[in-house]
Amino acid sequence: MDRYLVTGGRPLHGRVAINGAKNSALKLMAAALLAEGTTTLRSVPRIADVSTMGRVLERLGCAVAFTDGAMEIDVPSNIASEAPYDLVRQMRASIIVLGPLLARTGRARVAMPGGCNIGSRKIDLHLKGLERMGVEVSYDHGYLNARSPGLEGATITLDFPSVGATENLLMAAVLAKGTTVIDNAAREPEIADLAEMLQAMGAHISGAGTPTIEIEGVAGLKPAHHDVVPDRIEAATYLIAGAATCGDVTASGARADHLDLVLAKLADAGCDVDAGSGFVRVALSGRPRAVDFVTLPYPGFPTDLQPQMMVLLSLADGTSIATENVFESRFMFVDELLRMGADIRTEGHHAVIRGRPGLQAAPVRSPDIRAGAALVIAGLVADGVTEIGGVEYIDRGYEDFEGKLSVLGAEIERRDRRAPAGLEA
Ligand code: EPZ
Repeated sequence: MDRYLVTGGRPLHGRVAINGAKNSALKLMAAALLAEGTTTLRSVPRIADVSTMGRVLERLGCAVAFTDGAMEIDVPSNIASEAPYDLVRQMRASIIVLGPLLARTGRARVAMPGGCNIGSRKIDLHLKGLERMGVEVSYDHGYLNARSPGLEGATITLDFPSVGATENLLMAAVLAKGTTVIDNAAREPEIADLAEMLQAMGAHISGAGTPTIEIEGVAGLKPAHHDVVPDRIEAATYLIAGAATCGDVTASGARADHLDLVLAKLADAGCDVDAGSGFVRVALSGRPRAVDFVTLPYPGFPTDLQPQMMVLLSLADGTSIATENVFESRFMFVDELLRMGADIRTEGHHAVIRGRPGLQAAPVRSPDIRAGAALVIAGLVADGVTEIGGVEYIDRGYEDFEGKLSVLGAEIERRDRRAPAGLEA
């Protein structure tokens, strides 16, 4: 288990290149299963979750390789249909193979995804929608078995605009018989990115990115080439780090139109925000102003930026209120931030953040991907050297996090946990 040693007090300055979005790439990889042949994905981030999804695809019979910067997924005519526990346990997003496997083979055996540190991560909306398409579901030994004699188009209204449920149903519907309508669908940019690749494969989809998506099933799809949409969460993580350290950071490759509300909140907090084609820049000198924010499904404020924003606001000149509506346990990391001197009180879905002039270094531990990145941001600001454990979580979602931060002027070192402190390897 590696750890980071982060020395605080150095403003971040400069330009950071943004990768393709983790939360699109994983689904695009699963979508490749829908067509025999070789699908090519560009701008796939080199992160642990992508490697895990690659191993899932290999277990299903595919060959996955990076060739001069692009990921090639070679899908055979017959694919297996079991996603094993040892991989699903590592990454609950593996459940996203359910829709493609049912569409291609009419069956799927997927280990039930465990919960994780931000909440229960249920899949009832995925299953309710698939059952409306004629899928029969049973369970044994921690596995979900799904069977379908042939997927039928259906009209499905989601109780909640679940990203994963929208994606699984979208990928099941493209090869179903007849028309499927998904109402109250998720509108995240990653959904439109998935729909774009499915259309390139020959799918008939309209309305992706709106609350109502209509899919006309087709008999078969062909492999495609696709460029993964830029990672809006990665981009905003670096922009918020720049603001928190009183620096000036440009995220190149980022799309400002995917960050409207986030950039508006940073401007409300006193940041200078500038954006053009292919870049977004945020600068702040002095303490941020207090700002309230509420996480909601897109286009609301992204839950994946809640921890990072909490760190920024823990330095504000005033009191902010953060409301987390998407995951029930996403304030777990606050206890770690309190150890660094933040003044935050959580009450159910709300957190009252009383800004302080600074934070202090302390040994902390990252409970999940985004909280880990947020604790690094806290370390970049804190007085002293902060040790952050659980770097393997950060590796799941950020390519070369310490390298990119170092280029921006951060003093951050990665240490192997196995070496006893003081006797560094
Ligand atoms: C995706 O998770 C992302 N992960 C998450 O990013 C992101 O936070 C989330 O969407 C919301 O934007 C990937 O894309 C791999 P949901 P997902 O289904 O699909 C409840 C990160 O750090 N729900 O929209 O799991 C669920 O419990 C990760 O990159 C049900 O109740 O999100 C949660 O409270 C973290 N039943 C809420 O909906 C269901 O069947 C949002 O879940 C499905 C979801």
